[in-house]
Amino acid sequence: MKIVHIVGARPNFMKIAPVIHAFERTGEVEQVLVHTGQHYDEELSKYFFEDLGLPRPDVDLGVGSGSHAVQTGRVMIALESVLVRERPDWVFTVGDVNSTVAAALVAAKLGIRVAHVEAGLRSGDWTMPEEINRVVTDRLSDALFTTESSADENLAREGVPAERVHFVGNVMIDTLERHRDRAAEQKVAERMGLEPGRYLLVTLHRPSNVDESERLTALLMALGDVAAGTGHDVLLPLHPRTAARVKELRLEHLLKPLTILPPLRYLDFLGLMQDAAGVITDSGGIQEETTVLGVPCITVRPNTERPVTLTHGTNRLYDGDPHGLLDVVREALLSERSQLRPPLWDGHAAERIARITLGLGRRGDSAPE
Ligand code: UD1
Repeated sequence: MKIVHIVGARPNFMKIAPVIHAFERTGEVEQVLVHTGQHYDEELSKYFFEDLGLPRPDVDLGVGSGSHAVQTGRVMIALESVLVRERPDWVFTVGDVNSTVAAALVAAKLGIRVAHVEAGLRSGDWTMPEEINRVVTDRLSDALFTTESSADENLAREGVPAERVHFVGNVMIDTLERHRDRAAEQKVAERMGLEPGRYLLVTLHRPSNVDESERLTALLMALGDVAAGTGHDVLLPLHPRTAARVKELRLEHLLKPLTILPPLRYLDFLGLMQDAAGVITDSGGIQEETTVLGVPCITVRPNTERPVTLTHGTNRLYDGDPHGLLDVVREALLSERSQLRPPLWDGHAAERIARITLGLGRRGDSAPE
């Protein structure tokens, strides 16, 4: 069996790593790794490959940044000739970024079967580019690997035949389980002069939070209030999108009460997350990682496509007036830590994916409809 894996942006790398390793262990699969180049900075790309033990990409499409249409279109054009040449039995695409949907479109039109890892998640929020990417990718996929029961329900509601949907658990948690001890051993917080349990870790990069001046200003001011009100260090590794907006809008003075860091490597971020008093984020994956680590998480969004992190985890949504953030943080820090873990988030999701895919067979074994 031959599989082409497509990755492009930071959150893809943690998801594909265990899948590649699981197929490798079967000894039955020829694998080709394609990096679209959507993320190209070393902090967002190269170091992740090193930290996660990923092989170097066999193909780098080098598409870089651009508007949504430009970025998606460039991936499609560059990927088509690769897939024509490789003729794989399956294309594996992960998550919900522009590279994910571009890969699904190209493969489906070439009649190559598409497997989507992390299928079925829905925020119901069509202003999120990721929601469009999720829905389109799922519609084009032949094997849909899901992380939580809400995803299975969403897909059933959308009419996806049940035999295509496979509830396997969460590959992002496979990666976390594999690396958490190594991350802890690095004692990142101590090396940074931080007291474990006495700092908050923040990530902000969603267009809805950082693109508009008023919203970004209010959020940065609110983080300043959180630093003053809790007495905790507030660490903010700055995503390039957020860094660019801060500079453009001349908001640098609002960063003064915060500890600003460059985007962190996987192991450093995981190490800091483990020892944090709490996390404030608008990321998808971090809601899941904090759930397993038992670290309180405040998601600065009106909705989540990952509701299991609310019912079985440490996550709470906050989309009110940013000035109310301090109260929500205080409440989260005092809350009792959930001991629950979502079903099948056990570190073995990728093995299930490999087993199921081998069972589904090669091109022509069971042709897609
Ligand atoms: C993308 C994903 C988002 C994911 C995030 C993780 C889409 C629609 N969005 O958002 O779901 O949560 O990755 O980081 O696919 N840039 C750099 N260096 C890079 C890459 C980007 O400086 O290596 C800057 C560029 O100015 C670029 C901007 O970041 O224009 C945004 O990059 P892009 O890939 O379009 O989206 P992200 O915001 O990173």
